[in-house]
Amino acid sequence: MLNIKNMSKVYEGKVPYRALSDINIEVEKGEFVGIMGPSGSGKTTLLNTIATIDEPTTGEILIEGDNPHTLSRKKLAEFRRRQLGFVFQDFNLLHTLSVEENIVLPLTLDGKPVKEMKEKVDTIAEKLGISQILPKRMHEISGGQAQRAAVARAMIHEPKLVLADEPTGNLDSKASKDVMELLSMMNQEQEATMLLVTHDAQAASYCDRVIFIRDGSLYSEIHQGESRQVFFQKIIDTLSLMGGDDNDLSSVRV
Ligand SMILES: Nc1ncnc2c1ncn2[C@@H]1O[C@H](COP(=O)(O)OP(=O)(O)OP(=O)(O)O)[C@@H](O)[C@H]1O
Ligand SMILES: [Mg+2]
Repeated sequence: MLNIKNMSKVYEGKVPYRALSDINIEVEKGEFVGIMGPSGSGKTTLLNTIATIDEPTTGEILIEGDNPHTLSRKKLAEFRRRQLGFVFQDFNLLHTLSVEENIVLPLTLDGKPVKEMKEKVDTIAEKLGISQILPKRMHEISGGQAQRAAVARAMIHEPKLVLADEPTGNLDSKASKDVMELLSMMNQEQEATMLLVTHDAQAASYCDRVIFIRDGSLYSEIHQGESRQVFFQKIIDTLSLMGGDDNDLSSVRV
């Protein structure tokens, strides 16, 4: 579904910075893949290049065999709107809109009928427990509620590929569990392929596979086995082997 070949990313500037080196990743349709690594290791850069927000410097990214980076501007906009769902590290919700308006944005942009939008937003809001706050403005809701709204917006148009950057970063453990269960459910129901960047081993344990990145390079990957609890422990072990100590990892959340 997703094929990243020999991809590198160098940020040009006074001092060029190599954020990613020679990345090779293949993801199957419907797979739920976690991406972990210390702060600054290149996780957001990786997601942004897949999302076509940023260009790879070398190498190639294929989504269902096509390279979206070669599409015309119009086709690219359509591709992003229809095939991709994003949950950003900073939510990226529009402050002048209500929660509901933010959630239906991908459908609005695609000219879907109002009745269909209303039904979809009600269903997804119910699943996420945010039905009560739909009419509110962004400044009237909590960080956790905003994060759920961001998840709802990423999923409402049933995208093929969902890219989530720390979707549970601002949530307490209960809310985080709710969001991960929702993402898992969407992954299964909609057969959406998902990439989830997280610092949270508990959240990562919902994935089928976790890829670890250190200093812009692939470090290792591990697969979900018989139980989530065992997988969680393996994730913790890999994180400590990799040397991203807990303080470093948790400091990113403040
Ligand atoms: N636009 C940019 N220009 C120059 N350097 C950048 C740019 N964006 C990111 N970097 C650098 O690239 C490296 C990787 O950044 P990235 O945001 O991908 O890290 P991350 O793994 O997502 O970290 P975090 O866990 O803190 O979100 C960092 O050293 C960062 O300073
Ligand atoms: Mg990041």
